[in-house]
Amino acid sequence: MAPNVAAHDGLSTSDASSSFLLHHQPSTDATPTPTPTPPPSHHDQQPHPCHMQSSQLVAHDQYCLITQAELPVVDLGLLCHGDEAEMQKLVMAVKEWGFFEVANSCVPLKLLSEIEEQVSHVFALPFEAKIRAEPAAGSFHGYLARSSGEDGKMLQLSEALRLPLNPQHRSDMIIQLWHEGNEAFSSVVEEYIAAVETILLQLLKSLALGLGLDPLQFTHNLSNDANFSTLRMNIYNDSSQSSPTDLGLVAHSDASLLTILHQSSVDGLQIRKDDKWIAIKPRIGFFVVNVGDMLQVMTNDLLLSVVHRVVKTSNKCRSSVVFIKVTHPQFIVRPIPQLVSEHRPSQYLPFTADEYYTSMSSNRLLDGKSNLDRFRISPTLA
Ligand code: OGA
Ligand code: NI
Repeated sequence: MAPNVAAHDGLSTSDASSSFLLHHQPSTDATPTPTPTPPPSHHDQQPHPCHMQSSQLVAHDQYCLITQAELPVVDLGLLCHGDEAEMQKLVMAVKEWGFFEVANSCVPLKLLSEIEEQVSHVFALPFEAKIRAEPAAGSFHGYLARSSGEDGKMLQLSEALRLPLNPQHRSDMIIQLWHEGNEAFSSVVEEYIAAVETILLQLLKSLALGLGLDPLQFTHNLSNDANFSTLRMNIYNDSSQSSPTDLGLVAHSDASLLTILHQSSVDGLQIRKDDKWIAIKPRIGFFVVNVGDMLQVMTNDLLLSVVHRVVKTSNKCRSSVVFIKVTHPQFIVRPIPQLVSEHRPSQYLPFTADEYYTSMSSNRLLDGKSNLDRFRISPTLA
């Protein structure tokens, strides 16, 4: 029997208040400033979400305007050479957008197409094979089938595989999927992880320097062994006639410090900025990077973890690979003292990374409240 597993993972803080599919309207505009999408014509088949009956919505979404924009682009090569101007560009991008793209990463295009190919292979396995890698009790890693909401109204159209970053655990999972192992899959995944890890470390180092902090401030407690350190593969290949309330991936924020995403050429990713959803067009060879909850806490809300989601825009198959490396579970997460002042008091009480992830796993999809809010010092106490 198909398990009713929520494909939206505990690594991501769901935002049920905005989880419904919008009628995606591509725009040709590609300027950095978002421009409103024209209203739908009366020939459109589906109602504009702002005009849907409330029964058609999973929940009211006040952020229903979709626009398209290009994210700020940061040149990794320049950052590697300690280019001061590029570092400041990175800081501006994370402060203003919480999302940016990385160019000139030196990751060969060949490796990107190989990892996409391996994503297709693993999800093409028979269901019986994939479900052998279902997460064990208490474990976060494993295969997540498509899910339907408790009330059957909401469907999340992605399948996901959360591979552990710990090499031994990863190879155990690969044996669950293919009894005889899979050399090609293992080696491409290993090479990919090494490549994106280099990007992550460089970005975190440049960001710390750009904020005037110790360059190792964000990196010294990261661990491959953490349950939540994962390479998450997503596939959105549902070809059925979906309903307007179906999402590829529900609106959520990530629990990471920074998340590094490679998306295939089929669009669908949207980020929430101000009062709009902004569609992010895939660009070959660019990685999309976003601030996660942990960085928001450590920077005392100077950097904000941005809500994003995936919508189904066509019947083309979309895939993505998401690299998330978190701190070890006993690491105490708290705002960095240099970013706390009389004018900017600490917004959070200290907590362990483990407490955060446990809270996230048990509260997912429930009440639309960000998991971060559970750890925030309430304004009356601050
Ligand atoms: C995620 C995520 C976006 C995508 O897995 O957390 O946001 O494009 N994925 O698949
Ligand atoms: Ni995400």
